[in-house]
Amino acid sequence: MTDYRTLRVALLGAGAVGSQVADLLLKHGDELADRAGAKLELAGIAVRNLDGKRDADLPRELFTTDAETLIVGSDIVIELMGGIEPARTQVLHAIASGADVVTANKALLATHGSEVFEAADQVGAEVYYEAAAAGAIPIIRPLRDSLAGDRVVRIMGIVNGTTNYILDRMDTEGADFADVLAQAQALGYAEADPTADVEGYDAAQKAAILASLAFHTTVPLDAVHREGITSVDAAMIESARHAGYVIKLLAVCERLTADDGSESISVRVYPALVERTHPLASVHGANNAVFVQAEAAGDLMFYGAGAGGVQTASAVLGDVVSAARRHIAGGVGVGESTRANLPAVPIGHVITRYQITLEVDDQPGVLATVAGILSEGRVSIATVEQTVIEADENTQTGGSARLVIGTHKAREQDLSETVERLAASGVVERVVSVLRVEGN
Ligand code: NDP
Ligand code: HSE
Repeated sequence: MTDYRTLRVALLGAGAVGSQVADLLLKHGDELADRAGAKLELAGIAVRNLDGKRDADLPRELFTTDAETLIVGSDIVIELMGGIEPARTQVLHAIASGADVVTANKALLATHGSEVFEAADQVGAEVYYEAAAAGAIPIIRPLRDSLAGDRVVRIMGIVNGTTNYILDRMDTEGADFADVLAQAQALGYAEADPTADVEGYDAAQKAAILASLAFHTTVPLDAVHREGITSVDAAMIESARHAGYVIKLLAVCERLTADDGSESISVRVYPALVERTHPLASVHGANNAVFVQAEAAGDLMFYGAGAGGVQTASAVLGDVVSAARRHIAGGVGVGESTRANLPAVPIGHVITRYQITLEVDDQPGVLATVAGILSEGRVSIATVEQTVIEADENTQTGGSARLVIGTHKAREQDLSETVERLAASGVVERVVSVLRVEGN
């Protein structure tokens, strides 16, 4: 066997992901050494509870509750504790101690990424985080390295498995949101507190990370517009299906170019209509996919498991091998550029298509009134479908009708003001839903 130099690896966290990382590191040590050009010695595993149940059979003597001491003298620190503190403090401690850091912690990077990257820059350390967005799917490295010579125009990602599972079951079975959420919790896809997933916080963190890389710009979490899926009901899913769409929770990261050539970006997470022929429409279950459009490369699709202990461990170990190679070869790592520094625009500036569903009085002139309000609001109608909900038996009028209006591209600010005017017009009984249409 080759006489490799030994690198000391500290693991912080042995939960769903950490226990699998430790297991694979121990099982495949020789193979990983050949790939990394260094022996990766798992020096210890820091946890909260030494007697906690682990998903893998790991040597007890590796466990410690003293993360701080474990970090000192390590070449690579793998942070898989999650959350902000003490993860942030330990990651900064690892960097200051001269280690490279591997982390899957999207919450930390989306909120304190600049602090972490600056600390690493100052001492020439590297931070690897392939697993922080879309789990096992290689997307960080493609954006950071493979597409570094191109210009990314747009990313549309299904980056949260829980919500994709829920929306997919609602779409395929006509099920209700609450029922599917309960099943997702029973199956372990959704957390007991599902807020981070269903309200779009998890997807927004991933969107901030992807947009930062794609547009070489620091994107703070508060620049990401976020809406969750709790307002999506079975009727909306059915209406989308009828019109040839599926509803997906999308993370959209977009480069915008004004008439004067100046550029900005929009980063947003919301449930959107996607045409059933679009590659993202065929992403089922808890899978993730990231659809990238770049000026030269064209359309690229990255697909696979966005979560899961062993799946995510694959991405983490890829980073560990990269970090080890850099330690052995020396020199700077992959690096990151935030020099473009593009401003992020508020949601009102976004231009996309919409589907507006209204319940209206079924009276003469109502359609004309609705069309007039849309026209005044600079919202151009592409399609209209009317269904009578309830009609007078004799005249076949006088009841209610459902109007589903598809628009051409419109500015979000114009659209929302127009919807407010429609709601107040006296002919609209109820604004049932307003959904963006993405994917063209
Ligand atoms: P878990 O909650 O399953 O595990 C967290 C681990 O960290 C536990 O072993 C816990 O110790 C340990 N820990 C927590 N706080 C401390 C502390 N203060 N000191 C020492 N140890 C601590 O998390 P996951 O494995 O699910 O996630 C880890 C990271 O990976 C997160 O950032 C997450 O967002 C990310 N990720 C997770 C995915 C997944 O599918 N699970 C997918 C993609 C990314 P103890 O066991 O003793 O409580
Ligand atoms: N809760 C996340 C999801 C998993 O459902 O995709 C890890 O990011």
